Parts: sequence; structure tokens; C-alpha cells
Amino acid sequence: MQPSAPSVFESPKPAFSEQEVAHIAAEAFGITGSVQTLVSERDQNVRVGEHVVKIANAAEQRSALELQHYALAHLATTVPALALPRVAPQGIVEHEGHLVRAVSFLPGLPYATVPHTDALRHGLGRFMGRLSKGLHSFGHPAAHRPDFLWNLDGAQRVQEWAADITDDEDRTAVEAAFRRHQQRVVPLLPHLRGAVVHHDANDYNVLVDRGTVSGLIDFGDMVFARQVNELAVTLAYALLDVNDVVAAGRSVISGYVAEFPLTDDELRVVYDLAATRLAMSVAISSHRSRHHPDNTYLLISQAPALRLLRKLMGLRPEFLHFAAREAAGLSPVPQHDRIVAWLQSPACTPAPVLPIDLRRAGRVVISLADGAPATRLAGPVESWEWMQAQMHAADAEVVVGRYDEDRSCYQGEQFRTDAPEPRSVHTGIDLFIADGTTVHAMLPGTVETVVDNAVEYDYGPTVILRHATDDGTPFWVLYGHLSRATLTHVRPDQLVAAGDVVGFIGDHTVNGGWAPHVHLQIMTDLMADPELGPDGNFEGAGEPSRMTIWRSIVPDANLLVRLAPETFADHTADDPATLQPRRRADLGPSLSTSYRRHLSIIRGEGPWLYDHTGRGYLDCVNNVAHVGHAHPHVVQAIARQAAVLNTNTRYLHRTILDYAERLAATFPAPLQVVYFTNSGSEANELALRIARTVTGRHDIVAVDWGYHGNTNDLVEISAYKFNRKGGAGRPPHTHLAELPDPYRGAHGNNGAIYAQSVALAVAAATERNGAGPAAFIAESISGCGGQVVFPPGYLAAAAQHARAAGALYIADEVQVGFARVGTSMWAFEEHGVVPDIVTLGKPMGNGHPLGAVVTTHELAATFANGMEWFNTFGGNPVSCAAGMAVLDVIEGEQLMANAASTGEFLLRQFHLLAERHASIGDVRGRGLYLGLDLVTDRVTKEPATALASDIANRLSERGVLVSTDGPHDNVIKIKPPLVFSNENARVLCAELDEALGHLASR
Ligand SMILES: Cc1ncc(COP(=O)(O)O)c(C=O)c1O
Repeated sequence: MQPSAPSVFESPKPAFSEQEVAHIAAEAFGITGSVQTLVSERDQNVRVGEHVVKIANAAEQRSALELQHYALAHLATTVPALALPRVAPQGIVEHEGHLVRAVSFLPGLPYATVPHTDALRHGLGRFMGRLSKGLHSFGHPAAHRPDFLWNLDGAQRVQEWAADITDDEDRTAVEAAFRRHQQRVVPLLPHLRGAVVHHDANDYNVLVDRGTVSGLIDFGDMVFARQVNELAVTLAYALLDVNDVVAAGRSVISGYVAEFPLTDDELRVVYDLAATRLAMSVAISSHRSRHHPDNTYLLISQAPALRLLRKLMGLRPEFLHFAAREAAGLSPVPQHDRIVAWLQSPACTPAPVLPIDLRRAGRVVISLADGAPATRLAGPVESWEWMQAQMHAADAEVVVGRYDEDRSCYQGEQFRTDAPEPRSVHTGIDLFIADGTTVHAMLPGTVETVVDNAVEYDYGPTVILRHATDDGTPFWVLYGHLSRATLTHVRPDQLVAAGDVVGFIGDHTVNGGWAPHVHLQIMTDLMADPELGPDGNFEGAGEPSRMTIWRSIVPDANLLVRLAPETFADHTADDPATLQPRRRADLGPSLSTSYRRHLSIIRGEGPWLYDHTGRGYLDCVNNVAHVGHAHPHVVQAIARQAAVLNTNTRYLHRTILDYAERLAATFPAPLQVVYFTNSGSEANELALRIARTVTGRHDIVAVDWGYHGNTNDLVEISAYKFNRKGGAGRPPHTHLAELPDPYRGAHGNNGAIYAQSVALAVAAATERNGAGPAAFIAESISGCGGQVVFPPGYLAAAAQHARAAGALYIADEVQVGFARVGTSMWAFEEHGVVPDIVTLGKPMGNGHPLGAVVTTHELAATFANGMEWFNTFGGNPVSCAAGMAVLDVIEGEQLMANAASTGEFLLRQFHLLAERHASIGDVRGRGLYLGLDLVTDRVTKEPATALASDIANRLSERGVLVSTDGPHDNVIKIKPPLVFSNENARVLCAELDEALGHLASR
């Protein structure tokens, strides 16, 4: 359709003399004052005093002028403070065939002629937003102007006039803008709000006075159209010749939405419509110029419009959409939050991207920021050599380059944009590792593209995978700088499973000229060209000033790579080289530090510990963090109670009683009375005091190699202490029974025979003091003795011997209690015996210092002989809240069942390992309390002490923590938090397998 130009453009402008106009002003409107002709395209506007007399083109319709009058009157009511012309009350008068009006004069200079600042642009946006607010409730039949040429809603009507543009490049840009309109705007038209809009906030209609918008004139283009056109037209002029379209647009849009919010759909197309307005403007003026070749102004005014149009068309339309949303204070990519929430949800379980365990791998984080050492190297070869030296020094397997780092290394033309600064902020994570290393899909998905971006500083071979969240929202992951072999290894549309090899690390000759690495980034939108589709490339760096937008398009790839956050923190203060000398100076030297390579552990989570560099260590030894390190339920319980009250047990407090009752309920009758302490040692100390008070005796029978705590009394009954380095030997009041070790002991698995040794010790006590021992104390499984599970019948028989002599039986459950054995809450329960006193500690508060003694009412009553037992901290409300929370988690997460199943799995795996490694002499344990007895010879059972130590050290260097114990320090001890999974167990076994193989072959 060839549109017909409206007649006002064909009809000549009215041309009355200034005297005639002054006369009209005085006669018709009662206005006088100095007279000055103003500029106008199709009418005659003359300033008379503080008014403007507007003489309309003879072709102007009365209804069109009435529309303006009603609108201005409406605005005077809805937004009275807005600087808009006020119409003289006489309304429209006729003069020689022309309709004439008078409006108030607004001060200020045209926007086009004043300097532009961000504040002015913001003010412009605000002004237009308030106008939209004021017009929102306005309607008039004359606003429906189906033939109005400039209505953006009907842009396609002037599309054909683009053919009148003589310059090829200009025409191409204009045509592209019309196509963008067709693709992106037209389908959304039914969803865009309609309103009467001014539709012509051009840079001569907006007035500025002292840096602020002082008025808007010329309501001649008012039309009922899409609401968003108002802002689009404003942008089309406000952005002319700005340095940075996105920054300037941000000011205008943020101002506008502060007054008048836009819908998602409006924000989606506002920049497209601004481009459309520019394209229309150029097309219309080119068309007119063809018909009025003498009017040179028509083409001159095109130049800035074309410059802006080319800039806008040079940006990805979706980027502009996201920029508009960012300006409006929204999440730039609408689906960003949904995608990130899914990536952080338990549903997302990414596979490792490299064939190393990045959680446990030693890592070196490098900077490529301006001036950093890594940027001073001559080229990729030198760079890689330097990185390898760094890795060697830090015992690392991978070098990590940061997300969101402003770098100086991006030199290529492709990093220049319309913004004042180049794209220099890295939007991915780099993992530097030897070329040829396999690169794996982190999630199941489909190959979107595989292309060679073979330009220097670019990605080289690049794979982009498409994935989706649970609700079907797509997102993409880019793997860049791969090898040429990658290009034939995968093909577009191919389905991939998590863990599948999708490429190989490329070397510098193919990967864009970099040290070997993979650049990984997540894209919440592919921002594909609406005409060409995805091209297999994507920005890997953003302009510093646009990072708020880029971060939403390209969120941190660490959502999938999952390097611990400590990886990226400054950790010099926590370095072992800094801490170890301080520790030597500050703390007593009686306690050694674990492992040859000392660890600075700064965070725990579940079964994992993290050192100062973010390296993870699978904790297979800390039975204190019973329900997992820093379990949120326990942490919150402690925090909640600590914020309210912490006192002692001399006050009544419901939590203390609730916890005591709940704890007692886990014991068989008659064990129903609880004393709270702060540690296992305090619990055992109290147990001894009860036994000694109740029996009036002092001697104790204990099991050889036992350990019961750090106090003087407890050292004296712990052979593990008094018979080892620095120990004073067995005191006379302590009587040792043989350690009933089915593997190393003299009587195999015969519990009754081992128990004879308890009878002998009881007899020795009786002989010494004439009465007998106060108590027989035994760990329910011997820990320091080497994870020794006592033979069936032993504890019951031993208790019987003790009781026969009037002694009490104290079960030390400090290590093994709280469901660790998998089949019962307490390890003694497996032995069909009920102790007189049970002591608890370590796991009870999941790291919060908490212990307890549980005994019978009868014994408790006898113990209460008048001397008070007071413990300042024991059983305080915070500790009880912690203890209660631990019980919640044991039950809620069914940790007893997990201890049983994971424990059985581990035992099976250990037996398989024993088939392959002769140094495993014995495999033993219950639930998650296990041991491997290492020997140099299976026949002689010669303890392999050095090997056990080497294995513990090698495992720690490979990110798995175990300890050694037993009389010969040759037993590998495994007692992880109860949340230990089969997957964790596989890691442990694989590393044990590796270490046994490696060390035994020396
Ligand atoms: C069996 C046993 N009882 C008691 C204790 C003493 O506990 P704590 O060090 O918490 O005082 C320990 C500590 O290792 C232990 O293993």
C-alpha cells in the first residue's frame, strides 16, 4: 500500500504579519505584549507577551485542535504541577479560514540546544512519565487517527519509503530496523497497552531551563496508540549523538518508570520502537525529499538519526531489552532468577567438568587484572610455564581464572563496542589444565552449536550446550578454547548426558592464542540474532559499566563448577605458613598438629571441611560433627537460644527438662536420670565420683588401651595415656583387664574367656583394698585400642564379674554413642547388657561442648549425700537446645539407618580392598565406626605403623582425612559424620586403594 501524505504537509503554512497577529491576539484573546515569531513546521506560532498565538494550517481539522484542548485541560487537573501550556479560555476562534488559539508561553530553550547530562535525561524521563500518568485516564474520539502517518503502531505503512533512501548502508540499517519491528514488535502489539500519547517529545518540543525540563510543547501529534510509544519516541531523540546509548537510555528509562511503571512486554520492545521511530523518520524524510528535492533540510536532519539507528541496530535487541529492564530496576533477564534458583536447588547436581575432582583438587587462583604477574608474560607458552610452576609450588592440579574480573588482556577488535570502554570484565570461569584434557558436560542437554571461532583472542573451537530447568526454562553453557578434535567430536542437536565428553582442551595454536584452558560460562539467554539464529559465539567479557546487565545474562559459572567460595577469597592470613609459627608461640606444645602438611581448616559443611584455599577435604574422622559440619538446624537452635537466654541448671528451664527426658527415653530402664556436663572427660569424671561415693571404694577396673579423658583421675585409668610416652605407668588403684581384641588377642572371638581377665582385675582390686573396685569402666567399642569390636558376650560377662564384687559397670559411650553403630542408639545395647552408668560426650552437641552422665534413680539418690554437684556450664539452655537439635536431625534424617547402610557398604568395599592389598590385615567395625588394621605380614600380623601414617598423610594430601590409632598406631580409623553417603564412601575407598597401591609398591 502506498500511503497518501496527509494534506497539512501539502498545504502552505499560514503567514500573517506580526502586526496582524498582535491584532488578533488583542481582539480575540485580550492578549498584548511584545511580538516574536516562533519556529513551526506547518502552523504559524507567534509569541505575544506571555502567550503564544497559534494559527493553524488551513487544512487542520477542528476536532484535532479540540483534542489538544481537552487533553491539556485534563492534564491541568491530573498533573497540575507539570509545566505544560495552558489554553486561553476563549478556546478556538476563526480568522480568515484559520483556526486560532492562544496558549501560555513556557520558558526555556529547546532540549536540542542545551548541554545534556544524565540528570537532565533522568528529568526528561520523569517529565514524560508524569505526562503518561496524567494522560492515563484521558480519552477522546479525535485521538483515533487511523491515517496519522507517524503512529509507531503502523510503522509498516511507511516501510516501503525506505526504498527512497539513496545511501546503501543507510537503507540497509533502516530496512533492518523495520524487519526488527516486524519480528519483535508486531507479534506483541495485542499485548501492549493503549493510551492517548503526546508521541512527539522531540528535542525541539522539550524545553529546558537551567538544567531541568521546563516544558513540553506541540501536542499536534497526539494520538491513541501504544502507551510505550511515548517513551520510545522520547528515547529516539534523547539518545541522538550520545556517547553511550545504554547509559543515556538508562537515565531516561529510570526516570520514566519512577513515575509510570512499564509492563514486561513494553520493556521488551521499547528500544525496538525507538529504532523504529528513527527508521520511520528517515524513511519519511527521504520520501519527502524525493518529492521536494529543493528542501535540503529534510536530508541534513537525517544524519544524527541514522547515526543513532546504526548504533541501536549494532546492539543485540535482547541486550537492549535487558538494558531497559535493568534501567527499570528489574532483574535484567526476566528468567535469570528462576534459572539461578534452579541451579542452586537440590535438583541440580552437576557432573565435574574436568576428569579431576575439583572439590578436592589443589587450586591456584590467578589474576589477569591490569598489572598482575600473569599479564606480564610474553605469550601463551610462557604463561603456561609460569602457571605450571605456580601449581607445582602449591601442590595444585588446576589454575583458576576469576569470574567478574576486570582484565587488561582483551586486545582484539571484537572487544570494542559502542560503549566508551571495551569489554574487559570476564564473564566466565577459566580452568587452566594441560591441553588434550577431556572436558565434560556438567548437565544433561543438547548441543546447540559447535563452531571454530578462529580469530585471535577469541574462543577457537567452542561448544554451546542447551539445558533446561525443571520447569522447562532453557539456559546455555559455553565451553570455549577447545581443540580442533572437538569440532568433529560433537555435532549440533546431539543429546549429551552429564559427564559426557564434549570436547578437549585446546593448545594456543588453535584456542585463540591462550595458555591451555577452558572458559566456562552460563547464559540465561542466547540473545540470538532474530534473523540468523545462534552463531556459536557469545561475549566472554562485558563492558565494566554494563556489568549489572551482563551478570544477569551470564551468571557466575561457579553455580555449576562449584569451587568453594574460599577459593576466591584472600587467604594469606589463614595460610599455615603464617599460623603454625603463631601457634607454636601462643599455645602449649603438648598437642601436635595433624598430618605432615598442616591444614588450615576454615569451614565445614556436611562431611566436608574446607581449607583456606577452598580445597575440600572429605572428613572421615570427625565423629564430633555427628550430623554434619555446621548443620543448619543445630546452628539455628544454638543461635536462637543464645539470643534469648543462657544461664545454668540452678534455675528451672523447660528446655533442659525436655532434653533430659528426650535423652533418657533413648535408654533402657532403669537408666533415667541425667547429669549434664561440658565434655566426655567431665562425664567420666562424674561417673567415677558417683561410683566411688556410692560404693565407698576407690579402685577402678579398666580395659587395656582404653582412653577416658584428659583429667588427672581419667589419665590414671587410661592405659592409652599412662602406658605411653610421658606416662607414669599404671597407678596401684587401677587394674587393667586384657583388651578383648578378636584379631590380635589371645582368645580369638571368645568373649567369656576375655571376661575372665576382668574377674582377675576385680580380684586384684579386692586384694589391694579388701573390698573390691568401685567400678568397671569400658568403652563399648575400643577406639584408641584400634577400633576393636568386643566379642559377643564379653561386656555382659565382664559386667557380671564386676557386679558380683559390688562394683558398678560404667559404659563409656563418648565416642560411639548416638546411633553411630547403626543398629541401636547406644553401642552397649548390642551386647545385651544394661550398664549402671553411661557417659556421653563428643557427638552430643555436634561440636557444641556437651556431655552427660545417665544413671538410675537409685544410684542418683545415694550419690546425693549432701555435697552438691554443680557445673557452671553443664546443661545450660543453649547446650540443651543444641543437644535437642542433634536428636531432631538423627531422627529426621534417619541417620541410624544411614550409619548401618553406609557402614555395611564400606565394610564390603574394605573387604574387596583387602583382596587386592596384602597390607590390610583386618577389617572391622560397626556402622560408621570402622578400622583397617595394617600389617607388614598377614601371618605374623606385624603392625605396619609407618605405612598407616603414610597412608593417612597421603590421603590428606589428596583431600581425604583419616587418622591412625591402636597400640601400634597401625589402625586406620574411620568415624565420619553420620551424614556420610555411599558417594563419599566411594571417594574414600578409591583414595585408599590408590594410596595402598602407591605406598606398598615403594
Ligand atoms: C572414649 C572416650 N572417652 C572420653 C573421652 C574424653 O572426651 P573429651 O575429650 O571430650 O573430654 C574421649 C576423647 O577422645 C574418648 O575417646
